[in-house]
Amino acid sequence: MTAFENSLSYAQELDANDPLKDFRSKFIIPVHEGKEQAYFLGNSLGLQPKTTKAEISKILDEWGSYGVEAFFKGDNPWLHFHEQLTIPLSLIVGALPEEISVMNQLTVNLHLMLASFYLPTGKRKKILCEAKAFPSDQYMLETQAKHHGLDPEEIIVEVTPRPGEHKIHTEDILTAINQHKSELALILFSGLNYYSGQVFDMKMITEAGQAVGAKVGFDLAHAAGNIELKLHDWNVDFACWCNYKYLNSGPGAIGGVFIHERYHRDRAIPRLAGWWGYDKTTRFNMEKGFQPIPSAEGWQLSTPSTILYASHKAALDIIQSAGWFTILEKSRSLNDYLWHIIDDVQNEFANRFTCITPRLNEEKGSQVSLLTHSKGRKLFDKLTRAGFITDWREPDLVRLAPVPLYNTYEEVWRLGQTLKQILAEGL
Ligand SMILES: Cc1ncc(COP(=O)(O)O)c(C=O)c1O
Repeated sequence: MTAFENSLSYAQELDANDPLKDFRSKFIIPVHEGKEQAYFLGNSLGLQPKTTKAEISKILDEWGSYGVEAFFKGDNPWLHFHEQLTIPLSLIVGALPEEISVMNQLTVNLHLMLASFYLPTGKRKKILCEAKAFPSDQYMLETQAKHHGLDPEEIIVEVTPRPGEHKIHTEDILTAINQHKSELALILFSGLNYYSGQVFDMKMITEAGQAVGAKVGFDLAHAAGNIELKLHDWNVDFACWCNYKYLNSGPGAIGGVFIHERYHRDRAIPRLAGWWGYDKTTRFNMEKGFQPIPSAEGWQLSTPSTILYASHKAALDIIQSAGWFTILEKSRSLNDYLWHIIDDVQNEFANRFTCITPRLNEEKGSQVSLLTHSKGRKLFDKLTRAGFITDWREPDLVRLAPVPLYNTYEEVWRLGQTLKQILAEGL
């Protein structure tokens, strides 16, 4: 880690040398009491690009000019809009463009992927996942089990942190895979746990899971747009993510799905189909018998919202012009600076909170989760009143997620000063 300094002039110098310093002005920063807020909530809803409105307006204009013909006419016929999204996304998630489908929303997509990849048979029925996965994933797994007539209590196996710890050791995940090896049908982990901020070793989990005959998928809600991913090279079976967090595509943004290319032409794999997954060249012949597009698009069901496509495009255009690897580099540095500042606060005010996010680079993304020891809600409320937008998880957790495209080192420095001031005044 770089030797950082906790001073305003040092933070300002980092900002002045930041290759992404001009990108903040491409976003609408919410204002609090006449001042721009320090928005550390990119892991919940990323901020709005200034170009989103214009991109959505283009769709409305095309709809106005051409009606349904807009699917085939104009500069950007809607029928091919998908390709403008899958190319930038393929770099972000480490996939081939044809391995990506932009469709639906995250929980819906997880259910659809399980229709293809969770096929309980004979003794092989179990699903392995992390304890305290995001609630929607827990409900999704529970109802998938019931949908197959199985008892969730019997077939869902959760890997937990060791007593007194917060992270889940890779070793314990591998042990659990081996322990249940002949009974495992599916492994579903998040790429980055929403609560602790822990990044899982997706490559190793995939290898170990597939070696015992299970399918392996990931929920990348907090990983896509946050950390480097190599889904194709890691040989992951499938993955799903939402685009409204680090990918700034707006509330309820259209979701993303990765399906490894080896499944694209596999006609034996069961799936729930709809006409938008049908072979594009003959889709409008409206014939009986499902003929899938031989790519991840073959899992699409319904006519997509081109308005949601447009808002996704606005955000991806910014990422493309900033450069994905430049974003990743700043993300690491900004997050390291946040750790430096938090450590400094902890040195002055011992035992007020514990960082539960793992410290190792490969086990963290751009998020720090602080477990508060008492009066955490008051701390959070005071931060909010001071213009710092952070996240509160009951009963005692504050999450901070600095975003390289619009957060500054100075904001991180100010956060540290404000935390010290709040703790010195007493809660
Ligand atoms: C890890 C994770 N999984 C699933 C979801 C649910 O996503 P959606 O509401 O888009 O289905 C979220 C939402 O924040 C999430 O963080």
